[in-house]
Amino acid sequence: MRDATDLDIEAIRALTPGCGTGLHFNSAGAALMPLPVLKAQTDHLELEARIGGYEAAARADAQVEDTYRAIADYIGGNPREIALLENSTRAWGVVFYGIPFKPGDRILTSRVDYDSNFVAYLQRARQTGVEIEVLSTLPSGEVDVEALDAIADDTVKLIAISHAPTSNGLINPASAIGDIARARGIPYLLDACQTVGHMPINVHEIGCTYLASAGRKFLRGPRGSGFLWVREDAIERTEPAWVDFHAAAWVADNRYELRADARRFESWESNVAARIGLGVAVRYAQALGAEPIWRRIQQLASLMRSEIARIPGFTITDQGIEKSGIVTFSIAGHQPEAVKAALAAEGTAITTATCQSSRLSMVPRGLIDGVLRASVHYYNTEDEIARFAAQLRRLFAQG
Ligand SMILES: Cc1ncc(COP(=O)(O)O)c(C=O)c1O
Repeated sequence: MRDATDLDIEAIRALTPGCGTGLHFNSAGAALMPLPVLKAQTDHLELEARIGGYEAAARADAQVEDTYRAIADYIGGNPREIALLENSTRAWGVVFYGIPFKPGDRILTSRVDYDSNFVAYLQRARQTGVEIEVLSTLPSGEVDVEALDAIADDTVKLIAISHAPTSNGLINPASAIGDIARARGIPYLLDACQTVGHMPINVHEIGCTYLASAGRKFLRGPRGSGFLWVREDAIERTEPAWVDFHAAAWVADNRYELRADARRFESWESNVAARIGLGVAVRYAQALGAEPIWRRIQQLASLMRSEIARIPGFTITDQGIEKSGIVTFSIAGHQPEAVKAALAAEGTAITTATCQSSRLSMVPRGLIDGVLRASVHYYNTEDEIARFAAQLRRLFAQG
């Protein structure tokens, strides 16, 4: 098995214009793009400027087609199962809002689900009468799979889980949940926005029915890019939340026919440069290898957690037995937004998560003021982490 030492970090950093211009620990927001991803997009934008957007798209057909193939290869699907969308939320919502819930139906979700997903649950509950049930968690914060198993009856019309949450380093047991969903025939929508490009993902090993993700985060792709994977046998029976002439053909005055592939979930107009860039980003990640990337992220995140935990007044707020590259923490006596601003003034990029981003998990744990979030990627270095820890100590250490 390949491990983190297979990555040539110097070469990777040389291909990453953002490395060396400050400390960037915000891959869970938007990671630094590698040059090939940047160039693929600027080349296409220049072509658009020279010959026109539609004309440029016609010439880029093969590149865009490769994006479908690249994503399918990377996550273990086939290109017919891929839809390209502008972000993860839209990819998730085009499935979620198409499901015909009725009173008495139940949606099972996790305590750490993304807030955009949660407001959508609440809206659908108001509109359709579907009940939202938050799964119990283990003391370490992940979904309790045994508890799920005990309540997953035929009134459950959807299991919808965030694989890795936005404001906590834990990782939900996606595959164990998939085993239950598969055994009971319950549709399973996985929000893998934070995990594709971060850790190895295989949709068939996970056993989900739908998977949504974004390009700009751990995949290092463009902003405004995302994708949806829909298991082949679920495409035909899943109605997109909205359609246009690309998703469905108007075949008679009063009839339309939906496309047979996952592109029924797309819209016609799109950012072609971003679609091309996404494909290049996925191929780039694939060439490095999902396993070495994941090993290196785990090593760096674990180093960052131990460095931060040693600073007086600092508390790591991550849960989880196995942890992701998302490191969250708080500093006694300091508001997260002010800390973020002070670091930004010195060229260090991290971010914050408010308690609204994960109410059901953060409020009971007393994280009312939110937390700081520093997320690592494989291109970060041990030296950057040491510099970051020294900076935190200098600016905020107590006593
Ligand atoms: C767990 C999770 N799901 C979904 C999203 C939304 O992704 P997007 O902004 O691409 O719609 C995010 C964004 O941070 C996230 O962390």
